[in-house]
Amino acid sequence: MTEKTILVTGGAGFIGSNFVLNWINQEGSPVINLDKLTYAGNLGNLSSLKNDKRHIFVKGDINDRTLVQELLTRHRPWAIVNFAAESHVDRSIHGPEDFIQTNVNGTFHLLQETRAYLETLEGEEKNVFRFLHISTDEVYGSLGPDDAPFTESSPYTPNSPYSASKAASDHLVRAFHHTYGLYTLTSNCSNNYGPYQFPEKLVPLIILNALNWKPLPVYGDGLNVRDWLYVQDHCEALRIVLAQGKSGEVYNIGGGNERKNIDVVQTICSLLDELRPVSGQKYASLISFIKDRPGHDRRYAIDARKIGHQLRWKPEETFETGIRKTVQWYLDNMEWVKSITSGDYQRWLEKNYGNRGTA
Ligand code: NAD
Ligand code: TYD
Repeated sequence: MTEKTILVTGGAGFIGSNFVLNWINQEGSPVINLDKLTYAGNLGNLSSLKNDKRHIFVKGDINDRTLVQELLTRHRPWAIVNFAAESHVDRSIHGPEDFIQTNVNGTFHLLQETRAYLETLEGEEKNVFRFLHISTDEVYGSLGPDDAPFTESSPYTPNSPYSASKAASDHLVRAFHHTYGLYTLTSNCSNNYGPYQFPEKLVPLIILNALNWKPLPVYGDGLNVRDWLYVQDHCEALRIVLAQGKSGEVYNIGGGNERKNIDVVQTICSLLDELRPVSGQKYASLISFIKDRPGHDRRYAIDARKIGHQLRWKPEETFETGIRKTVQWYLDNMEWVKSITSGDYQRWLEKNYGNRGTA
């Protein structure tokens, strides 16, 4: 393998698979993709790379240090891009253990093996090596309606087991830079949406429930605010951060699209009314306000000026253009949807939404 190889973890998940596809398309250099294939990992996302020698898939856990060491020694990547995580807040409320295991311990083990690998490198190979850690704006906690958006120096105040586990991993990455001089890059992004997102998250869940004429569950009063980032814009930003980001730096990545949840749901309903009309009916009639998520953060917003000024990145999509593409993608990819909405997914829906009660 050449010095151009990168090691991606969690590359069969939503953002990871979009990143791998984007990388091979834009950079054309090889990717080792280490993924445990949890419920959220799906090789179907990467079926277009089935016969592509530049994509080497390895089923495994980032906690498996022997495997990680073996992959690093064999393929000698110049970068690690760490997407692997448990990523859903509601699941972290039902069962936080896996989040600690993967997000905290897994990141720690990956960092340890990276250090050991660097000991074996010399000269240019050692100098260029970098570790890009993908994190979330949720580590900064919840904003009030008039608060300024999160910057890279906003204090960490995570509120869910998910965001606490990501915060812990960010701190480990920071410490490995400061203590051991590891070339680290951390990105904290807002809510992603787009193709291949597992339908436990708001956008695909609403699209698929609507298409099945099922209630559209909105937590609480529906006035919580998120900033929405189209996944391909995120992938472009990550390629730029990897190429040009400065060691030890943090970059916030946002779409500049703050929206209330209820407005997101209404927008999806209007698009479906246009693209998949049901005679005499409106999808919005399915909206159902249900009992709120415990500890539900009220508002996230990202100040993305640093990456804009320093690395010259800005998102291409507005929420309106990105959500239209996303709804159309799900309509065009019902075979993919069918392949992932199996027994396990139905059990999750029952656990999170069955007998939940109204708001
Ligand atoms: P996802 O849940 O869709 O995918 C996670 C992937 O990691 C899956 O393929 C899964 O099989 C794999 N994985 C889980 N545990 C693993 C382990 N121990 N070893 C190896 N692989 C493992 O997540 P996503 O939405 O693609 O998010 C990717 C990253 O981006 C995560 O770190 C997440 O915290 C972060 N992030 C996501 C969002 C978002 O809106 N989706 C927003 C901000 C940050
Ligand atoms: P989600 O997609 O789970 O992302 P996150 O919690 O990481 O922001 O949820 C986005 C917003 O939508 C969040 O405020 C919770 C809300 N939500 C609902 O109202 N109903 C749902 O069924 C889901 C999954 C989320």
